[in-house]
Amino acid sequence: MKSLLFLAVVLLATLSLTNSTTIYEETDRITEALMTKMKDHQKHLRPPGSITNITIDMYVRNIFTMDADERKWKVQLTFRQSWEDERLAYTTSMEGMDRIAYGNPKDIWTPDLFFRDEISSHEHDTFHPNNLVYIYPNGKVLYSKRLTVELYCPVDFNQQNFVCPISLASYMYTKDEMNLHWKTEDPVQLPKTVYMPKFILNGVTTQTCDAKTTIGKWSCITALFNIGHKICHE
Ligand SMILES: *[C@@H]1O[C@H](CO)[C@@H](O)[C@H](O)[C@H]1NC(C)=O
Repeated sequence: MKSLLFLAVVLLATLSLTNSTTIYEETDRITEALMTKMKDHQKHLRPPGSITNITIDMYVRNIFTMDADERKWKVQLTFRQSWEDERLAYTTSMEGMDRIAYGNPKDIWTPDLFFRDEISSHEHDTFHPNNLVYIYPNGKVLYSKRLTVELYCPVDFNQQNFVCPISLASYMYTKDEMNLHWKTEDPVQLPKTVYMPKFILNGVTTQTCDAKTTIGKWSCITALFNIGHKICHE
């Protein structure tokens, strides 16, 4: 009796394995369908709709350099952007599959942001590009990337306290086409300790910094890093 029951269980398990699709196969199917649907030129067009809202947050992994002479500083960030692109919406009946992980942002449209005060930046790709792209069934995209950015901070670092901004804007799209928002909750996450030999990070605040040029109005968001001097008790 016992062995019969065991046989039945094994049989059922084998059947359900051969009949059901694995998450791997389902991810492959959806990815294939999306990439076929997303024609080459569409990667260059922003998502259809009146406006593209981009929600941004970042994790400050470290602050490496505060260069008082050159008035520049260097930060390493995990930089996250999120938006909706209805062209990437899909349906799945697979239980427990709430997103697909897709590694290559070059196959989809991504926002053309730039750091306003950037001197230089580089991405990290020692083993593989440090990119993460999640696509949700409703077409929501989460794009995360590890970056090291060197930024200009045009203030006197010798003051007791000073502010260095990290500001972002779209290069191409005006504010009526693309709007940047800080994530409502915890937009700039900080590590427990930031290693700066001479400085301390007092805190970070976020705000908008929309700008007007001869071409139009641009959405801009900024994180203001309030930095102070370490007091030495020698
Ligand atoms: C974009 O964000 C604004 C709020 O700032 C909202 O009113 C609007 O509905 C959003 N549009 C889309 C297409 O998500």
